[in-house]
Amino acid sequence: MENKTAPNTTPEQLVLVVDFGAQYAQLIARRVREAKVYSEIVAHTISAAEVKARRPAAIILSGGPKSVHVDDAPKLDASIYQLGVPIFGICYGVQLIAQQLGGEVARGGNGEYGRTLMRRIAGAQSTLLPDSILDQSRDLSVWMSHFDAVTRAPRGFVATASTPDAPMAVIENPAKKIWGVQFHPEVMHTEQGTELLQQFIYRLAGCTPSWTMDSIIDMQVAAVRQQVGGQRVVCGLSGGVDSAVAAALVHRAIGKQLTCVHVDTGLMRKNESAQIVETFHRAMGIELVHVDAGARFFERLAGVTEPEAKRKAIGELFVRIFEENTGGLTDAKFLVQGTLYPDVIESGGQDGTASVIKSHHNVGGLPEDMALELVEPLRSLFKDEVRALGAQLGLPDEIVLRQPFPGPGLGVRIIGEVTPDKVGVLQDADAIVREEIRLAGLEREIWQAFAVLADIRSVGVMGDERTYGRPIIVRAVTSEDAMTADWARLPYHLLEKISSRIINEVAGVNRVAYDITSKPPGTIEWE
Ligand code: XMP
Repeated sequence: MENKTAPNTTPEQLVLVVDFGAQYAQLIARRVREAKVYSEIVAHTISAAEVKARRPAAIILSGGPKSVHVDDAPKLDASIYQLGVPIFGICYGVQLIAQQLGGEVARGGNGEYGRTLMRRIAGAQSTLLPDSILDQSRDLSVWMSHFDAVTRAPRGFVATASTPDAPMAVIENPAKKIWGVQFHPEVMHTEQGTELLQQFIYRLAGCTPSWTMDSIIDMQVAAVRQQVGGQRVVCGLSGGVDSAVAAALVHRAIGKQLTCVHVDTGLMRKNESAQIVETFHRAMGIELVHVDAGARFFERLAGVTEPEAKRKAIGELFVRIFEENTGGLTDAKFLVQGTLYPDVIESGGQDGTASVIKSHHNVGGLPEDMALELVEPLRSLFKDEVRALGAQLGLPDEIVLRQPFPGPGLGVRIIGEVTPDKVGVLQDADAIVREEIRLAGLEREIWQAFAVLADIRSVGVMGDERTYGRPIIVRAVTSEDAMTADWARLPYHLLEKISSRIINEVAGVNRVAYDITSKPPGTIEWE
């Protein structure tokens, strides 16, 4: 699939977060964005010329897992310190500043991990720590994770705060516009962490909080119009948050030039397809091709029991049906895709040239040879930003708060052969699980909650009758990113309610089990 370099959509003020290999870079970028200033993560190999070309308002150097003393320790192009762009180093970042500018980094003692008390150095003038953040009368509780520490500040720098094992926990050189802290202001456990980051972003780097949802919409609307001109654009609507928000945004930009295609695989959650038609077609007036393809999927899935074979069958048929239904749109030149920033970062494609297709997530991944240029209006956004954007565009909560749902749908939640009957049973049970979780007010705390239909039967008794029915397995997990997950500690009374409702309301089910497996070793889905 072809993907020309996307139009420039960088806002006026940009904060670059230089990644030194820790998991913290993303968190820092998100904190900056929460302060309504746009930020992007860049590799530490970025050159001074590249930085200059991006014209950032500020640069933040992230933490990292290495010691500055090891041979392959990542460095920063030292000319970047001379650009006059305000720089803020965090943890590894401050150690690098000290080392590269002629100070000294040494083992500070035993190192510090976790909560540490920091105090002001008497008499030292600070621009980073106004009294409102830390005055002489008290200590600040900060989050540390370091072995080495700055022991001599470079010329022109003053140390303004210290902890037991970091004598120079904060160093500052306002004349050169360089500041650094040994602790992690981006983590929640650091007292005044947000205020401190904002002190740097607003007061020291002169940024203004102008990157708002409205400004994102305006900018993307303009960029989409510029990219597609008067051509037709198609968008596959799966029901997921990303494609829904991308479609709504593109529709805001080009209205009738957008045609959405929704392939109902018959493996969707209960009433999901109807809701897509209702929201996008009836409420928003988007041109929508609704393909009711359940029968074809069931036919194709007859006798297929092996999980990967099922995924493959569903994925291939999906692509074929999508193509059949867009083939008539001969004037279509563009395809909307809901690629998000984490996908871009993971593929190393921050420069806007990489085209990303989620590989594991095969359904909705369209064939390489489709001669359509990609429109990716969400490629600079994190998931929670996409949800906020969707709400701002007027999408209902049921769509913007929707949990992730596998492309192959209920197909991978029915163990063994998929039949219309089993899908019906699972849809009913699944709707009960999700409704009860929502009524308990736990929707936002839970990453995914759903039902699985097992391919076994067990004996039970209902009234005077012996039953021989199927079990439903309830799965509810908490997670940050689906890479790891833990089973949710749902209250017993909630589990009881879910169990009795499923048994009473869903015919053919006589037993409910709760899955208490974390990931790893389990996966979130059962297939
Ligand atoms: P697992 O089961 O691997 O799931 O722990 C991790 C996340 O990915 C989703 N998932 C899929 N999404 N196509 C998709 O689009 C798939 O084949 C697929 N399998 C799992 C799953 O729901 C969870 O959010």
